[in-house]
Amino acid sequence: MLTKTPPSLSDGTRIDDLIHLQTREVQLRVLADPELHRLEMDRIFSQTWLFLGVANEIPNPGDFMVRSMGDDQVIVTRSRDGEVNVLLNVCPHRGMRVCTTEAGNTPVHKCIYHGWAFRPNGDFIGSPVEKEQMHGHILPKSELGLRRARVKVYGTLIFATWNLEGPSFDDFLGDMKFYYDMLFCRSDGGLEALGPPQKFTLHANWKTAGEQSACDGFHTLTLHRWLGDFAKFGDGDLTTSMYGTEVSANGHSMRCPPVAQKFKKLGLEDKSIEEKLELLPPPGVTKEMLPELKRRLSPEQLHLLVESPPQVGGIFPNLMVAFIYVPQPDGTVVGVTSLHAYVPRGPDKVEFTNWFLAERDVSMEMKQKSLQIGIRMLGTSGQIEQDDSDTWPHMSRNARGPQGRLSTMKYQAVCDQPPRPDWPGPGHVYEGFTKDDTQWNWWLKWHELMSATI
Ligand code: FES
Ligand SMILES: [Fe+2]
Repeated sequence: MLTKTPPSLSDGTRIDDLIHLQTREVQLRVLADPELHRLEMDRIFSQTWLFLGVANEIPNPGDFMVRSMGDDQVIVTRSRDGEVNVLLNVCPHRGMRVCTTEAGNTPVHKCIYHGWAFRPNGDFIGSPVEKEQMHGHILPKSELGLRRARVKVYGTLIFATWNLEGPSFDDFLGDMKFYYDMLFCRSDGGLEALGPPQKFTLHANWKTAGEQSACDGFHTLTLHRWLGDFAKFGDGDLTTSMYGTEVSANGHSMRCPPVAQKFKKLGLEDKSIEEKLELLPPPGVTKEMLPELKRRLSPEQLHLLVESPPQVGGIFPNLMVAFIYVPQPDGTVVGVTSLHAYVPRGPDKVEFTNWFLAERDVSMEMKQKSLQIGIRMLGTSGQIEQDDSDTWPHMSRNARGPQGRLSTMKYQAVCDQPPRPDWPGPGHVYEGFTKDDTQWNWWLKWHELMSATI
């Protein structure tokens, strides 16, 4: 498809009419419009890199799992050579789903309709009654395979895109690679998924969750107020934990709150980087793993890991990233690592897909503890996610009202502090109390892709 001008909706509305760049507002209509949904499928979910799962979910040759890239279903497979493949789950014969189960292991994916068969790398093997050549002679077998997406295994995370000639994965992450490498590429064994993801469907537009993942700090104070009142985070005053640094680039972002304040009892203030790492290893890391971190990360990254580690944020368009410290009543600190993919299921439904992860090389006991606390907090019925997932359907519902759709979402809290002079990382850096800049950058990326000439 080649369009020379940005797309318009059938009532004449242009994408530029929906997002007000001067006043930093977005029309609520974007949360409910079926036409916009179709454009998003073409312009965002067929163009950017998307997270699909974790390498240890398909450890052996022949393993597969079915996932979604927007409205398209894909089969993520491990082929005989150990490669990860992402294949469109659409039979090239007449369009049947080739794989009709969620996950499993097979050397051959055979379509149940007329029996065309494919290898785990997508190659066409043949059709029934070999001597009759039921697939015909017009096209060579090499053109009858399953359509393959471009794949990147980043650390142990599986990403794919349909944009075969587009930006590399590193260019997609841009300046944020510096921060994500500290989380996803910090150890030799890498992260593993602690079981298959939890899933549940919400009656909400995917962007309600997507934009919140771009470091919406304000909502923590009100929607998650119980974290201070009952769980005594920040010694009961959540306001203090809203100071720190937020970073973003290319629509991705992370909040990097300082840790010394949060864990006063550990007396981190005057310590060296080495001592701080020993006293409070990054979430999910053991002291035994620290030599790996020091080998794999730069001095600037290590400095940030002990001062203001990236803890929550997102990867555009639809992945929430959490590497959080959870203090326990006995004084210990448990690290919880979770990824949420918000998969669109039409303009008014989103599938909330939730993985818990742990470093492969930590003890089973540590994995179980992290999983147990993670489910309690960030699971699909966890305390925090119950709060969040309560608001998204209401916003999406309001966006369908003839008057409500004309309302706007506002991102007008602008950071006016200069970045810390000693901040060692790249990207847009916002210092001080949490503001709206990172979320606004998320919308600017949405706007860029939605109005691009493709
Ligand atoms: S649709 Fe798959 S073999 Fe015919
Ligand atoms: Fe939240």
